[in-house]
Amino acid sequence: MIKIYEAKDYQEMSRKAANILSAQIILKPDCVLGLATGSTPIGTYDQLVEWYEKGDLDFSKVKTVNLDEYRGLERTNDQSYYYFMHEHLFDRVNIDPANTNVPDGTEPDAEKECERYERLIDSMGGVDIQLLGLGHNGHIGFNEPAASFAQKTHCVDLTESTIEANKRFFASADDVPRQAYTMGIGTIMRAKKILLVVNGEAKADIVAKAFFGPVTPEVPASILQFHNDVVVIGDSAALSKVPR
Ligand code: GLP
Repeated sequence: MIKIYEAKDYQEMSRKAANILSAQIILKPDCVLGLATGSTPIGTYDQLVEWYEKGDLDFSKVKTVNLDEYRGLERTNDQSYYYFMHEHLFDRVNIDPANTNVPDGTEPDAEKECERYERLIDSMGGVDIQLLGLGHNGHIGFNEPAASFAQKTHCVDLTESTIEANKRFFASADDVPRQAYTMGIGTIMRAKKILLVVNGEAKADIVAKAFFGPVTPEVPASILQFHNDVVVIGDSAALSKVPR
């Protein structure tokens, strides 16, 4: 079941999302957080850091698993998701780096790395709450529109539209990696709770399609309609095409 909450702007969306994540951390200090990258969750991380600095949050026992990573990027590359997570969250709070996990994009053996990652999530007891953003084509993690839903962590070929959308972070489109390791749709669906954040008018069409259209692997996020605990927090612009 999907519950949709409207926030008036990006800041309010970020605060609401951070509130939900912080409630999870307070209720279960050693919880497993599934984390996401992209521009959307940056404000959520900033808010968590602010509350940590005020003494309201303690990450010392928190464990994390990230959704995805570009294949072939070194951790020191400022476009790697490993780098992103350290920059926006891990290096700013008292989390134990040993408790943080991002797929290893530098492992050339895709099958080996994806298998390791999937087993790691299982060994942690699964994800308590998975934070998600939403791609313009409906992707979650790096699960691109496809003929079927992927069960497990796997290696994907990024679509032209994703390369196009993400090139703003790289020197040119040619520098965007063509592949990524990502949790599968099945991996994401096994999370106990899901929290999806989305903002901006450019996402309004895909929000309506994903949450009010047919469930299809051509719109990967549409599968969330079949999860029993999903919260979507969108700003007014992103929710402007939701049927009322
Ligand atoms: C990226 C990430 C996704 C993210 C999406 C949207 O490709 N792999 O996890 O949700 O794109 O990004 P943004 O929030 O910048 O729009």
